[in-house]
Amino acid sequence: MIIGIMSVNGVDFHPNKRFIEAAIHSGHKIQLINPYALICTMDMGDKGFAQSANFSMDLPGLVPHVVLPRQGSPMGEYGFVLLRHFVKMKIPLVNGIEGVTIAKNQYITLQTLGGAGIKVPDTCFITRAACFFKAVDHLGGFPVIAKQVDGMGGDGVVKIETRTQAASFLDAHLNALKGMLVQKFIPPKDRQDVRLLVVGGRLAGAMVLAPLPGDFRANIHQNGRATAIDPPKEWVDLAVEAVRACRLEIAGVDMIVEKGGRPLVVEVNYSPGFRGLEAATGRDIAQEIIEYVTVVTLNKKIAR
Ligand SMILES: Nc1ncnc2c1ncn2[C@@H]1O[C@H](COP(=O)(O)OP(=O)(O)O)[C@@H](O)[C@H]1O
Ligand SMILES: [Mg+2]
Repeated sequence: MIIGIMSVNGVDFHPNKRFIEAAIHSGHKIQLINPYALICTMDMGDKGFAQSANFSMDLPGLVPHVVLPRQGSPMGEYGFVLLRHFVKMKIPLVNGIEGVTIAKNQYITLQTLGGAGIKVPDTCFITRAACFFKAVDHLGGFPVIAKQVDGMGGDGVVKIETRTQAASFLDAHLNALKGMLVQKFIPPKDRQDVRLLVVGGRLAGAMVLAPLPGDFRANIHQNGRATAIDPPKEWVDLAVEAVRACRLEIAGVDMIVEKGGRPLVVEVNYSPGFRGLEAATGRDIAQEIIEYVTVVTLNKKIAR
């Protein structure tokens, strides 16, 4: 099977490298698809609008049997054009467009989770500086966390402690066309950060992450320290439910567990990296993802 991976990164990028190894191991082939190198064509044929269009793309190799969108939150509008084009070409996507749309924007993710009755941190969404200060009041005062809707790896997540700091931060970073999240700050000493990876409705691996001293962000990308865990069933059920609510099949779920409390779901990543998780757990995450993708793709083909 040819598995397309839509990614701006090359063969040396950890997940891509590991997917290639896993695919070779099980007799499949990975085709990296750089979204910036594609031309979509829509041929209306001789009969013009009387017949439906024939969709094609100048792909680097054969037409893949399935495509994994793996551009993370920064994917722009054009990315959805490409994904819809794949669908028109009858190429299944894992994850699909609905899930990518939800997970690409962190506030839409929290809206979706909240609507499904899943606990999330107290959060406001703002588009103007004046609203930021109302949000701070609403959340009980400083400090607060400001987050870009499309941040990744802890970049774009900032702790704001004063009005002066807020004013210069908003001046530099608030884009009214995108908006921003303002969230209640949960101090590191009162919480545990957990990442659970869900593949096809099942847990593929879990780890606890601890921020570096002086930082509050526990991301691996920010040199957070990872330890594998065997999470309680309640956390696993919550992660599986969060992924389902976000219409995803493969996703990394970030949770904050407050002291003695129930977990809050902070984020659902539709194209999670797994270097830290493979290192911490010793599990072959790439193989689990490739196996899941090939089985669902075969089942979809049989069902058609
Ligand atoms: N409300 C919060 N209070 C304190 N720390 C937070 C809060 N939200 C996120 N963090 C920390 O920042 C990290 C990054 O935040 P997250 O929302 O997952 O964004 P990213 O997409 O950049 O990973 C989290 O893993 C957590 O350690
Ligand atoms: Mg995160």
